Amino acid sequence: MSLDLDFVRSQFPALAGEWAFFDNAGGSQILKRSVERISDFLLTRNVQTGGSYDVSIKAREAVEDSRRAVATLVNAARPEEIVMGPSTTALLQNLARAMASQLSAGDEIIVTNADHESNIGPWVGLEKMGVVINTWKVNTETFELDIDDLLPLFSPRTKLVCVTHVSNLLGTINPVAEIARIVHEHGARICVDAVAYAPHGAVDVTGWDVDYYAFSFYKVFGPHHAVLYGKYEHLLELDTLYHYFYGKDKVPQKLEPGNVNYELSCGAAGMVDYLIELGGKSDASGSDRAKIVAAFTDITAHEKLIGERLLSYLRDRNDCRIIGRTSASDGRVPTISFKVDGRDSGEIAKSIDPYKVAVRFGDFHARRLAEALDITANGGVVRVSMAHYNSLTEVDKLIAALDEVL
Ligand SMILES: Cc1ncc(COP(=O)(O)O)c(C=O)c1O
Repeated sequence: MSLDLDFVRSQFPALAGEWAFFDNAGGSQILKRSVERISDFLLTRNVQTGGSYDVSIKAREAVEDSRRAVATLVNAARPEEIVMGPSTTALLQNLARAMASQLSAGDEIIVTNADHESNIGPWVGLEKMGVVINTWKVNTETFELDIDDLLPLFSPRTKLVCVTHVSNLLGTINPVAEIARIVHEHGARICVDAVAYAPHGAVDVTGWDVDYYAFSFYKVFGPHHAVLYGKYEHLLELDTLYHYFYGKDKVPQKLEPGNVNYELSCGAAGMVDYLIELGGKSDASGSDRAKIVAAFTDITAHEKLIGERLLSYLRDRNDCRIIGRTSASDGRVPTISFKVDGRDSGEIAKSIDPYKVAVRFGDFHARRLAEALDITANGGVVRVSMAHYNSLTEVDKLIAALDEVL
C-alpha cells in the first residue's frame, strides 16, 4: 500500500504552517503524540522513580514501558539492551569511557573518515591511553566506503570498528550486516552510528548482529533524546558510569548516570506508537514489529519518489554536482547534498529562506569527510534532507525556488 500522506502530515502539527522543512537530518518535526506523552508524564507522574508509593511506581512503569517500546523499534532481544541519554554524541562518548578497562595500549580501533564526528572523536580520544586508531577512508572518486579498503586495516589487536549506517552528508546506506559479519570474523565488535538511517528504515539490531547501535530520537520525529543499543553481554562488561555501588550487572542503569530523562523517554515511545499505527494501515494483522517494518516499507517507497524528483532535477542541470549516489533507487536515503559551480552554498541556502523552504549548508560535522572530498570551500554543500512527511508539492516548491536563485 502507498503511504497515507494525509494521515502522516496530520500527525505533525508543525506541518500545517507555511514552511517546507528540508532540514530533517538536522532535526525532524515532532509528533503530536510525543508531545502529549511528555506533557502527560510531567502533569501526572512527575516524581522520582524507585519510591514505594503509587505515583512513583506508575512513573517507573511509564519509563520502562518506553524502554520496551524502543526495544521493539530496534528489534532488541530485551529492554535492558536499551540505554537512553541526551544525544548520540553523549552516548558514544559515554560508551568510549565505559570501555576503558577493556582496552590496553596497543589495542586497535578502526574508524571511518565518512562518519559524523560523534562516532570518530570519542574513539580518537582513546589514543591518549595508547589505543591505535586506523582509518577506513572513503573512495574520493566514488564517495563509497569500499570493503576492500577495510580488510587490510584489521590486525589481531583490532577490538572495534566504528562506522556510520548512513552518511549524513552523502546519504549512502552502508551494508551494516555485511560489515558486522566481517568485523566478527576478525574477532572485533562493531559500533554503528545510525542517526542518519533511523528516520528512513526499520532498524534490526538482532538481524544485522551489530554490537552497538546509536541514534537520536529528535531526528526520528521524537524529542531531543537518544538511544544506544548494546548487546546485553557487552553492556555487562562495560564499566559503570554511575556511583560505585552501581555494579557491573546493573544494566542499563549503570550507563545512565543521574538517571534517564523520564519525560523524554516517554515522548520517544510516541514514535513507536505512530509507526505501529502507520504500519497497521498496510499490515493490519501483523505483530507490532511487523507493523513497524510495514510502515518503513511504505516510507521508503514514498521517499524514493520525492528523492528522485529532486535528484533528477539536479542531474538535468549542468551546473550542479551531486555529492553522493545520483539515483534514489541506488541504496541511498533522500539526504541529498550538492554543490553549484561558482556559487557559495551558504548564499544559495540563504537566498532560498524567503521562499519558506528550509535547507541547510555546511559540512554537518562530517568535517573529515568534507575535507577528504575537498568540498569545504564556498560554504560546503547545500543539503536537502527529506523526511517521509515531505510531499511532492513541497519538493516542487523547492525546485521552483532553486530555479529562481540559481
Ligand atoms: C550522522 C550523525 N551522527 C551523529 C549526530 C549527532 O547526534 P546528536 O545531536 O544526537 O549528538 C548527528 C547529528 O546531526 C548525525 O547527523
